Amino acid sequence: MPKKEEINIMEKLVSLAKRRGFIFPSSEIYGGLASSYDYGPLGIELKNNVKKIWWRDMVQQRKDVFGLDAAILMHPKTWEASGHLKSFSDPLVDCRKCKKRFRADHILHVQGIKPDLGTMHEKPEALKVCPECGGELTKIRDFNLMFKTFLGPVEDSASIAYLRPETAQGIFVNYKNVKDSMRAKLPFGIAQIGKSFRNEITPGNFIFRTREFEQMELEYFVNPKEANKQYKYWLEQRFNWYIESLGIEKSNLRLRPHEKDELAHYATACSDIEYKFPFTDWDELEGISNRQDYDLKQHSTVSGEELNYRDEDGKVFIPYVIEPSAGVDRTVLTILVDAYSEISGGRTETTKSTKDLEVVMKFHKDVAPIKIAILPLVKKEKLQKVAAELHQSLKQNWTTMYDETASVGRRYRRQDEIGTPYCVTIDFETIEKDNSVTVRDRDTMMQERVKIEELVEYFGEKL
Ligand code: GLY
Repeated sequence: MPKKEEINIMEKLVSLAKRRGFIFPSSEIYGGLASSYDYGPLGIELKNNVKKIWWRDMVQQRKDVFGLDAAILMHPKTWEASGHLKSFSDPLVDCRKCKKRFRADHILHVQGIKPDLGTMHEKPEALKVCPECGGELTKIRDFNLMFKTFLGPVEDSASIAYLRPETAQGIFVNYKNVKDSMRAKLPFGIAQIGKSFRNEITPGNFIFRTREFEQMELEYFVNPKEANKQYKYWLEQRFNWYIESLGIEKSNLRLRPHEKDELAHYATACSDIEYKFPFTDWDELEGISNRQDYDLKQHSTVSGEELNYRDEDGKVFIPYVIEPSAGVDRTVLTILVDAYSEISGGRTETTKSTKDLEVVMKFHKDVAPIKIAILPLVKKEKLQKVAAELHQSLKQNWTTMYDETASVGRRYRRQDEIGTPYCVTIDFETIEKDNSVTVRDRDTMMQERVKIEELVEYFGEKL
């Protein structure tokens, strides 16, 4: 069970996310829409940074991975072949009294009972009464998580389409296109970032589980003989990515292999990279699966296309697939939680005498939404002019923010709260004496004077 102060941190984080323009409740002026969120001006910078870093490390810096952006709406046969129409469901129970809906496995989990599909359907004692009102629960029924829609004006069975529940299938149906157009040799991967949709019974925990979400998925095609070796390689690569590329604290991460009865219908092995979230303790951030040849074989059977591979010795086989599948929104939440720190007063001149807690978002520089803040010491035209020119110049290379309201101490504090690594202050010495500015470091709070003409090079090294 998470501790009370940990839940409190989530409340503070949700409030900060809204107040400072990271994440807003969706359609808020209409009272919001359950478990839907909008990324604000700072949130979208942070989220874009996550995606850019993933793309850099998984596609651009590798010779063996190709990018893809497949359509969200796919031929309905895709979902027949992939098994999602038949097997992509959660066990649902309704309370006859309060009408609330629950996932049967969640009810069992909370009671310390290991959920098992067989015993769940026998409806043991644990699934008789509503955990909220004590009312009687219905029998379990399987609830398919795919969102159904209709293509065109006629709403009949011939026009049914689904919003994709994973980006992976867009990759599998393009396996042959990418292999042939890129003359790809095994092992090679296809990577994609995009939205997916799941009609979750119980979404929640801020942006942790939402019905519309974004995935970053790699399908890495390998010779079946190499599958185990490649699976281990990707476990290590992906685990280290969170630490090295995003700056997540290692002790808050762990790798957890799935039990056999937890595996998705397509996987023979899967491990989750888990983060110690304040609301649930350990929970999934990314899953790395061995999907074998399940998907290509299924698509080949249903479509009639040959989705195989011929090696140098002329041997023909269907490749196995290792899949690291990460959630963009969960990664953003992880970064927010991990960066959040409260420091007792005195970090700035203005707050020296207070005992207030000062919030500092200790983002890794690569993920920080704003890299440099430009602050004229006071609102005087001479200082504003130099600051505006400097802003214009730094903006060409980095995300910046200009702020001239309130005392400089208060402005430092505002920047700390949104995790800006550097603040540049333009003062009277700048214009009257040495054409230098003060650069303040968010973490060390060290200040140094740097000549304006050297700033681009200075930040080029730092950022
Ligand atoms: N492609 C794996 C998943 O969406 O969970």
